[in-house]
Amino acid sequence: MDFIQIYAQELTTNLDGQLSMEKVLDLIEKPKHAEQGDLAFPCFTLAKMMRKAPHQIAGELAGNIQHPLFEKVISEGPYVNCFLNKKAASKDVLQTVLKEGNQFGSSNMGTGKNIVIDFSSPNIAKPFSMGHLRSTVIGNSLAHIAEKCGYQAVRVNHLGDWGTQFGKLIVAYKLWGNEEKVKANPIKELLDLYVKFHQEAQNNHQLEDEARLWFKKLEDGDQEALSLWKWFRDESLQEFSKIYELLGVHFDSYHGEAFYNDKMDATIQLLEKEGLLKQSEGAQVVELTDYDLPPCLIKKSDGATLYATRDLTAALYRQDQYEFEKALYVVGQEQSLHFKQVFLVLKEMGFEWADQLEHIPFGFILKDGKKMSTRKGKVVLLETVIHEAIELAKQNIEAKNPNLQQKDEVAKMVGVGSIIFHDLKNERQNNVEFSLEEMLKVEGTTGPYVQYTHARASSILRKTEVAENIDGLDDEYSWAIIKSLMEFPEVIQKSFKQYEPSHISKYLLALAQDFNKYYGHVKILREDELQDSRIALVQAVNTVLAEGLRLLGIQAPEEM
Ligand code: ARG
Repeated sequence: MDFIQIYAQELTTNLDGQLSMEKVLDLIEKPKHAEQGDLAFPCFTLAKMMRKAPHQIAGELAGNIQHPLFEKVISEGPYVNCFLNKKAASKDVLQTVLKEGNQFGSSNMGTGKNIVIDFSSPNIAKPFSMGHLRSTVIGNSLAHIAEKCGYQAVRVNHLGDWGTQFGKLIVAYKLWGNEEKVKANPIKELLDLYVKFHQEAQNNHQLEDEARLWFKKLEDGDQEALSLWKWFRDESLQEFSKIYELLGVHFDSYHGEAFYNDKMDATIQLLEKEGLLKQSEGAQVVELTDYDLPPCLIKKSDGATLYATRDLTAALYRQDQYEFEKALYVVGQEQSLHFKQVFLVLKEMGFEWADQLEHIPFGFILKDGKKMSTRKGKVVLLETVIHEAIELAKQNIEAKNPNLQQKDEVAKMVGVGSIIFHDLKNERQNNVEFSLEEMLKVEGTTGPYVQYTHARASSILRKTEVAENIDGLDDEYSWAIIKSLMEFPEVIQKSFKQYEPSHISKYLLALAQDFNKYYGHVKILREDELQDSRIALVQAVNTVLAEGLRLLGIQAPEEM
């Protein structure tokens, strides 16, 4: 059913080996306007190679290509445009989707290979920030997409559970903390303590020294320090789990920074052996002047290790453990320098696989055009935001469909779905303006709009049965949908290759729009010889919408 493949094959055969099939596939594009056909092949590359006018080449090629799946192949200027035989092609597409079901669009490009995805990775004793939400949502979707492409995805939550801030927190807790309060409201209490520490430290510099001391104790395995740290960690993790539960996200590993404590010596020894460690003002660093970058800090003058040391060690551990083909770090763009440094140091250490590591950056979440910040205690608690979205979704249901069964489940799917979709419909590098009202609009470019379209298709399907033997459809409304359906496998591959879930969200919006147009213009359940084909079309749309949403990490209710 891969028409592009077939077209490319025909072209390649007619080109007598002047271009490889792969190159031809690369060149084939979609014409700007539907009247220009379904597939277009530009002849500029050939023109250069053959020193001939592109339109002349196009004319000759067009005259030579014939195939039962093609209605006609004509040249238009420098392009060879192919019009598919709508009846034959649509029958083929519909049968494929119906047969493959939610496997439609899967590929085996990653079969037998592991991809490690480091995402979410919030910091213990700090609120789960909007940035962590983006990382969670993008990383989770990339994991689904990778699996769809055949990879084994390893989801790693590299918790920020180590670092000098724990020294500060311990000091603050010992001075002003209260066990009951922390237990009742861990993240908020711990954050308050942390904020208070910084306020007090402005006038009392001794506090900073004390914090350093306590962190050192922690690194040296002091019992009191360790048990406080562990308690903070457990309480925080419990809070984070609530968010993961709401979002429907799980991890294969929660090995955070602390996990690497006893593994860092080995890393430092390796660095030494390679002659990479340099002394700089008492600290040990790896110089990266050759790359025009500041040095990567490995060990501070007081012997404390750093974020980068732990990331180096984590990369070594993951390569050893998972023998990954790819390792992604879904982390905000403000950490670009850090990852550049870490990857380069690994490369300098002689690890070829350093090239397989990739930082997947993303933009900020903005509120009224400003960055949402967690500093100075001005924090938006994510769990509250999610509950708010669910509550709003519930109100919409009460207003529009009060008799709906399982209102709460559906409200959760819609509320959570709206947040995820709102994030993933934007290219990840862009900033996202956060607005609950916008993201919940059913008439808009939203998750609920796609979910609603899926529910609409489901409701038609509940009234009827899908037949196996069908004919093709060639009216303009069906054809628009058929062409979208055909693109799904390609869109998934592109999303994976660019680590860009937004291709899928945009695709789903377009498909939903096409379907709603169809729904508005065509009477689907009407007894005539094409009824079965129309129902098959509805089924295919239903399948692809649900599967596309799943790849984004969003559920598709049958009714809403
Ligand atoms: N905990 C870090 C933060 O919140 C993100 C960690 C990302 N992953 C990593 N391997 N460094 O900024």
